[in-house]
Amino acid sequence: MKISVITLFPEMFTGAMPWGVTSRAFAECGHEISLIQLRDFATDRHGTVDDRPYGGGPGMLLKAEPLLAAIGAAKRASKPGAKVIFFSPSGEVLKQQHLEAFSSEGSDLILICGRYEGIDQRVIDAAVDVEISLGDFVLSGGELAALTLMDGIARLLPGVLGDALSAEDESFVDGRLEYPQYTRPERIGDLVVPEVLLSGDHRLIDAWRRSEALAKTEQRRPDLLTAYPPNEAEALALKHMKTVAKTLEAGKKD
Ligand SMILES: C[S@@+](CC[C@H](N)C(=O)[O-])C[C@H]1O[C@@H](n2cnc3c(N)ncnc32)[C@H](O)[C@@H]1O
Repeated sequence: MKISVITLFPEMFTGAMPWGVTSRAFAECGHEISLIQLRDFATDRHGTVDDRPYGGGPGMLLKAEPLLAAIGAAKRASKPGAKVIFFSPSGEVLKQQHLEAFSSEGSDLILICGRYEGIDQRVIDAAVDVEISLGDFVLSGGELAALTLMDGIARLLPGVLGDALSAEDESFVDGRLEYPQYTRPERIGDLVVPEVLLSGDHRLIDAWRRSEALAKTEQRRPDLLTAYPPNEAEALALKHMKTVAKTLEAGKKD
């Protein structure tokens, strides 16, 4: 996959990319990132890329011609069918499902980072396939949104994660938050690891994890449960954990 980023601040990417899974994915797994300086596509010799909005109002807008020229250049350097994404507070709020779709479709991506008050609407109408928002807040530019999207996609690309299972087992996969996790040592003062995780009984551990994930999702993100109601495996896990809890309780009383 090739990801082209159109930005006024390519240096924001060069600082962040050599770190973590993003660089590993792209460098080692044959993917490519291309940083495109929007100013190189200015139509005047001053490198002007912004202008005042028609109708008045504060701030400046990124002009249409340089953006359309930069998108054209990025498309010519990408595989046919490259998807053009503009980051905007008006877009679809980014979800794990978007990342899964982008990584599994495998189309090249062209990311447009807005600045100032945003971009001329005609670019969106003529050249953008999807608008993506990071959430209900306003950033000063689309660069952090682009880095977020790139990092999220990179770790889903085959060969990137050391343990392929870890991507299947994470928050938002199948609409659940992740269960609590622990590592050594078993005890830190009064803080102990739940006994079930030390039992070596993998069926029990799986049931515990499923029921913990379900309980956490119910408490913190009930909206996810509406979209992804409890499934058969979870119902079984809950039943199993209740039986185990009863057995343990009976054991204590004896
Ligand atoms: C200051 S913002 C412009 C905000 C715009 N005037 C509005 O009210 O929707 C400048 C650029 O930052 C990016 N941006 C800001 N907030 C964002 C968000 N929540 N998600 C994605 N991109 C965002 C967009 O590319 C936007 O064009």
